[in-house]
Amino acid sequence: MEIRRYKKELDEDKLMAIIKNEGEEWSCYWADEFSEKYKAALAYSITYVAYEGNILCGYSRSLDDCGFYIYVCDLLVMPEHRGKNIGRRLLEYIYKDYPEQIVYVMSGVDEYYKKQGYRREGSIFEVPKSS
Ligand SMILES: CC(C)(COP(=O)(O)OP(=O)(O)OC[C@H]1O[C@@H](n2cnc3c(N)ncnc32)[C@H](O)[C@@H]1OP(=O)(O)O)[C@@H](O)C(=O)NCCC(=O)NCCS
Repeated sequence: MEIRRYKKELDEDKLMAIIKNEGEEWSCYWADEFSEKYKAALAYSITYVAYEGNILCGYSRSLDDCGFYIYVCDLLVMPEHRGKNIGRRLLEYIYKDYPEQIVYVMSGVDEYYKKQGYRREGSIFEVPKSS
């Protein structure tokens, strides 16, 4: 398994295909009104892809908070490639390129991160828009 930085010209179609296969929860990213925006986000973000042979089997997308912290926004591994530490390695790989920063992941699956032994640091609240 190889992990490397995302390259739009090589990875975009494959990455969008695994999102599409993931179904409901990820559907906003490939729906017509958002897919171009998401493709731009992939290119703009700190995005890594995991390959098994020539199959793109997972990716992470993160944002750099001006050199202070890195926030992981998206992490996805194809169902048939799960349970092989690809998710964990995609996250740990970020430290290779950003050893001075702390990486935080915005969790949608707390049980997974607990199982990995990650330490909880705060939580996320949505600020309501005032009417
Ligand atoms: C969460 C996800 C990225 C994990 O990827 P992965 O490559 O299978 O994870 P790893 O191989 O590093 O870890 C596997 C371990 O985590 C556990 N695990 C995976 N998903 C889990 C979940 N949702 N809840 C609890 N444990 C989970 C597995 O049971 C496995 O445990 P084991 O080692 O005791 O068998 C993958 O399941 C996925 O893409 N899920 C759908 C998208 C998603 O929820 N992304 C995270 C949003 S923040």
